[in-house]
Formats: sequence, structure tokens, C-alpha cells
Amino acid sequence: MSACFQADGVAVITGGASGIGRAAARRAAAAGMGVALVDVNDVKLASLAEELGGVVGADRVLAANIDVADPSAMLSLADEVQHRLGNVTLLMNNAAAFVSGGAGGILDPNDNWQRLFAVNVLGPVNGVQAFLPAMLASSKAGVIVNTGSKQGLTNPPGNPAYNTSKAAVNAYTQNLARDLRERDGCSITAHLLIPGWTTTGDAEHRPGAWLPEQVIDLMEQSIADNRFFILCPDDETPNAVDHKRILWNALDIIENRPALSRWHSDYKDAFAAFMADDSTMPKTGSSR
Ligand SMILES: NC(=O)c1ccc[n+]([C@@H]2O[C@H](COP(=O)([O-])OP(=O)(O)OC[C@H]3O[C@@H](n4cnc5c(N)ncnc54)[C@H](O)[C@@H]3O)[C@@H](O)[C@H]2O)c1
Repeated sequence: MSACFQADGVAVITGGASGIGRAAARRAAAAGMGVALVDVNDVKLASLAEELGGVVGADRVLAANIDVADPSAMLSLADEVQHRLGNVTLLMNNAAAFVSGGAGGILDPNDNWQRLFAVNVLGPVNGVQAFLPAMLASSKAGVIVNTGSKQGLTNPPGNPAYNTSKAAVNAYTQNLARDLRERDGCSITAHLLIPGWTTTGDAEHRPGAWLPEQVIDLMEQSIADNRFFILCPDDETPNAVDHKRILWNALDIIENRPALSRWHSDYKDAFAAFMADDSTMPKTGSSR
């Protein structure tokens, strides 16, 4: 059984100063772990580092103002974490840049596309490149969690750059998980966290959303159950609805329908009928 929060472990959490990352950092400190927070928001970093220092001891908390898009900064951080906190047992690549749809969708300025890929896709790659070698060398059990998004699975209209970056996180993390499981004697597992609508940042909590703590509860339980896909519901969208949306999307390929037919006017009624028909409900498994 893999455990993401364990007393003698060390957690590295990117985007750790806010939202889902902050909830994970608080959980790690409460478990007695050393915690390295990686974020670009100095004020939130300082405030959380002080809070966690009060829980686990200031010498067990490291706050790093680092952009995950910077591979050399991530490599230096890995050395610093090893030196100050010890062997990493949880790497959570969770930071993301959001450039809200707006400007032009597919024709969003190239800088937006470059930035979203640098942070959302290459951020996790930089994290793995920096931390995985020492995690493997330590021979300790460990967990890598990359935060994806449902938008990377079903591509709703509005923010193609973000959707595409999160689709890449899905593909990358599946490749990572397979690579790790093929290594002799490797006890490091990789997992894709797929939050639903979650109240984060400085947003006001609204009915329908989950709190970040609920996401971390499910993450902890799913990793204990050795699940790769951690598909979070929220109070508006149960898993069953997401399962059907994901299946419809996959059936676009098999049935040779137009791309993203869920949002094509010719398929509006067929999609509604598919969602309403209980017999199209896919079987769920205790996934691995
Ligand atoms: N909140 C949701 O509804 C939701 C849904 C699906 C997926 N997600 C994903 O969850 C993850 C966490 O997001 P959140 O909702 O908790 O947001 P958040 O804004 O509360 O936290 C994100 C943190 O990442 C930091 N960050 C941004 N760019 C960074 C960079 N280049 N380097 C280091 N740190 C950086 C920010 O300063 C911030 O503290 C993201 O990957 C996001 O895409 C969130």
C-alpha cells in the first residue's frame, strides 16, 4: 500500500502556497513530514511557511520562490531539499498557470500558449527530472502526483491552451506510471489527480464546489487504494456523469464522429439521450 502522507517522509509541493497544494501541504505537516513549498507568490509562501513551522518545526519547512518552468532552479532545489530535509517521499507537481480564455481561444497570443505549456506541462517534467533520480536512488517508497484537469480529458470550449496543456499532463503521467512500474524493485508510484470544481485561490466558496481538503481526502484514500486516476467529483458533478462524458469523448474516435461532437449542434440530441440512458453507463472498476 502506498501512503502519500507519512511521518518520516518529505513532501515537495509545487503551487503549494494556495488552494489544493496548500491543503496537501497542511496535511503533510500534520502527518509530521518535512515540507518543501514551491510557489511564486511570496506573501502566501511566507504566511504558510510560518503556519507549518508551528506544526512541524521551522527547520522542517522550506519555502522556495521558484517558477516550476525553470529547470535549473528545480534541479538546485532538489539538492537543497535533499540536504536540508532528506529523502523526498511525495512529489506533487501541482502548480498551474491559468490564462483565462478571453482573447482568442485557438488564436490566444502565442505567449499564452508558451507560458501555459512551460508551467503546466514542463513544470511536472522539470519536477520529475529534478527529484526522481534521488527518489529512485534512496530505495524508499514514494509517490508522485501530477495535477491534471477534467478539461484535459473532455476539452470543453473556452480555453484550448489550458485544455491542451492538461491533456499533455494526462499523457505524460500515464507514461511516467508505466515507466516506474516496469523498473525492477521500484516502489515509487505515479498518480493523476483530476480535481472537479474546487474552491481555491481567493475565491469565495460557492454551493456545488468542493473544498481543497475534500480533494486531498480523496487523493490520500485513492493512493492508499493504489489507484492511478484520482477523478474527483464535486457537489454538482458526480463521478457517473464524468464517466459518461469521458466515454462519449472516446466514442468520437471509434464511431468516427466530428471532433468534440458533444458540442456539435447535430449531436446535441444524441448526446442528451446518451447521458439520460442508464444502459450506456460504463462499469467502474477498482482501478489500478
Ligand atoms: N480549482 C479547480 O477547480 C481546479 C480544477 C481542475 C484542476 N485544477 C488544478 O489544480 C491545481 C492547483 O490549482 P488551484 O485551483 O489550487 O489554484 P490556486 O491558484 O489556488 O493555486 C495555484 C498556486 O500555484 C502557484 N503557481 C502558479 N504558477 C506557478 C509557477 N510557475 N511556479 C510555481 N508556482 C506557481 C500560484 O502562485 C498558486 O499559489 C492546478 O494544477 C489546476 O490546474 C484546479
